[in-house]
Amino acid sequence: MTSGRSFYITTPIYYPSDLPHIGHGYTTVAVDTLARWHRQAGDDTWMLTGTDEHGQKMLRAAAANNVTPQEWVDKLVTESWFPLLETLDVANDDFIRTTQPRHEERVQQFVQALFDRGYIYAGEYEALYCVGCEEFKPEAEIVDGTGPFEGLKVCAIHSKPLELLQEKNYFFKLSEFQDRLLELYKTEPDFVRPESARNEVVSFVRSGLKDLSISRSAFDWGITVPWDSSHVIYVWVDALLNYATAVGYGNDPEQFARRWPAFHVVGKDILRFHAVIWPAMLMAAGLDVPRGVFAHGWLLVGGEKMSKSKLTGIAPTEITDVFGSDAYRFYFLSAIAFGQDGSFSWEDLSARYQAELANGFGNLASRSVAMIEKYFDGVVPSAGAYAEVDLAIQKTVADAAAAADAAVERFRIDEAIAAIWTIVDALNGYITENEPWALAKDETQRERLGTVLYTAAEGLRALAVLLSPVMPSSTEKLWSALGAAEGLGPLVDQPLREAGEWGALSAGAKVTVLTPLFPRVEQA
Ligand code: MSP
Repeated sequence: MTSGRSFYITTPIYYPSDLPHIGHGYTTVAVDTLARWHRQAGDDTWMLTGTDEHGQKMLRAAAANNVTPQEWVDKLVTESWFPLLETLDVANDDFIRTTQPRHEERVQQFVQALFDRGYIYAGEYEALYCVGCEEFKPEAEIVDGTGPFEGLKVCAIHSKPLELLQEKNYFFKLSEFQDRLLELYKTEPDFVRPESARNEVVSFVRSGLKDLSISRSAFDWGITVPWDSSHVIYVWVDALLNYATAVGYGNDPEQFARRWPAFHVVGKDILRFHAVIWPAMLMAAGLDVPRGVFAHGWLLVGGEKMSKSKLTGIAPTEITDVFGSDAYRFYFLSAIAFGQDGSFSWEDLSARYQAELANGFGNLASRSVAMIEKYFDGVVPSAGAYAEVDLAIQKTVADAAAAADAAVERFRIDEAIAAIWTIVDALNGYITENEPWALAKDETQRERLGTVLYTAAEGLRALAVLLSPVMPSSTEKLWSALGAAEGLGPLVDQPLREAGEWGALSAGAKVTVLTPLFPRVEQA
C-alpha cells in the first residue's frame, strides 16, 4: 500500500542502563503514532528505535554489577527494552543496537570519511565532563554543588560532580559549520520545531560554535577510531550515526536513497545534538541533512522533570497494567501539547480515562452497536433521506479528518486527536437529540431510525480509522464489532486520508456485541 512518498521517522536511541520510564514511553508512542498514521495513509514509512550502548555510563554500570559491558547491555535490552515495545503496542520497523556489527563498521566508515575530507584533527583537551549526560559541559551548565558536593562543580541537570578530563583527543571542525547551519535554519524554517526550539538553536549557533571532541582514550567501551586504535569514538557521534547506519549508509545505497533523510523526534534535552552537531556531521560527509527535528517537552511529575535518578520514575507497565496500552497512548498524546512540557498525575489520567475514553468514545461505541443489535437484529440498516442534522454529522467527520491530517503534518498529535474528538462529541450529542429509543417505539419512524443508526455506525467507522494510529487495540475491537472487515478489509489498510468520505460502511454489515472498550478500573 505504499504510494511513494518516503516517511522515515526515528526515536532517540535510549541508554539501556536506565530502566524504561514514562518519559521514554512518551517519545516512543508519539513516534509510533506518527509512523502508523503515515503508513496507513500509504506513505513509504519506516520507523526506527533502538538503544545507545557504548560510553562511560554503561561501562561503569556494568562494572558495578560485576559483568562485562556487553553482558550488561544484552541483559537490559532483552529484559527491559524489547518488552517496552510490546507494553506500548509499538509497530517499529527496525530496532538498532549500537553494539551491532552493522552499526560499528559503518560508523568507522563515516568517521574515516570525515577524516579523509579533512574535518578531523588531533588536539589536547581539558574540560569538565558529565558522565550522566556523556558530554563536556559548557560554562552555562556548570553550577556549584551543595550538600555532599559542597565545594565541587556539578552538572546543572544531574546535580552530580563533574570530572576534569585531560586527554589527547580528535576533534571535529564543528566551528566551520556555523554559517551553513544558520543558513539552513533560515531557508528551512521548519527544520527545527516547535518555534521555541528553533529559537533556542538559532541563538546557540549564533553565539559561536567550538570544535567538538569526538574521541576518548581513557577507556575502551566504544567503537575504535579506525586510524588510531588507542581511541574510541565519542558516544554521541557513535549514537547519532544510528539513524544513517540503520538504513543502509555505507553498505546499501539503494535502501539509503529510499529512506534518507529522516525526521527525528527527540526530547528537548538532546535538541542541540540533533539540530546542530548531527546536521554538521552530515554536511561534512556530503550527505543530506535530516528533513526535520521535532523537540517535545518534558513530562513533569510533582512539578519536576521525571527521571529515574530523581526517584520520580514511573514504569510504563504501572499504567498499562491498570488502564491498558491504548489509554496510555491516548492520555499522553492528547493531554500534552506536543512540544511543550506536561504534568503527569494519576488523578488526571483516571479522570480523562473515565470522561473521554469510557464515557465518551467507549460508551458511544457500545450503545450504537447495542441499538443496531436490538432494533435491526444486528444488521447495519441503510440510511433513508438525510436531514440537516445528519448532514451536519457528515460535515463534522469530513472537517475533522482533514484537520487531523493537517495537524499530523505539523507533528501536532494532540491537535489531531482534538479534531477527531469533535466527532465523538458530535455523535454523542446527535444520539441524545435524535433519541433512537423513542423512534424505535413508532413503526412509522422505521426509516428515520435506520438513518440515525447508520449515521452512528458510519461515524464510528470513521473514528476507528482515524484513531487506529493512536489506539490500535481498541479500534481493532470496534472494527470487528462493526463487522466492517468483511466489506472493507483490515482496519490498518483503510486509507487514512479518505477516512472523512461519507458512506464507506455498507448497510447489511453484521455487527457483534461489543464488550466495553474501556472497562471500569479499580482506582489506583
Ligand atoms: N542515548 C541518548 C540519545 C541518543 S540519540 C542519538 C539519550 N538517551 S536517554 O535514554 O537518556 O533518552 C532520552 C530521551 O528519552 C529524551 O530525549 C526523551 O525523548 C525521553 N525522555 C527521557 N526523560 C523524559 C521526560 N522526563 N520527559 C519526556 N521525555 C523524556 O539521551
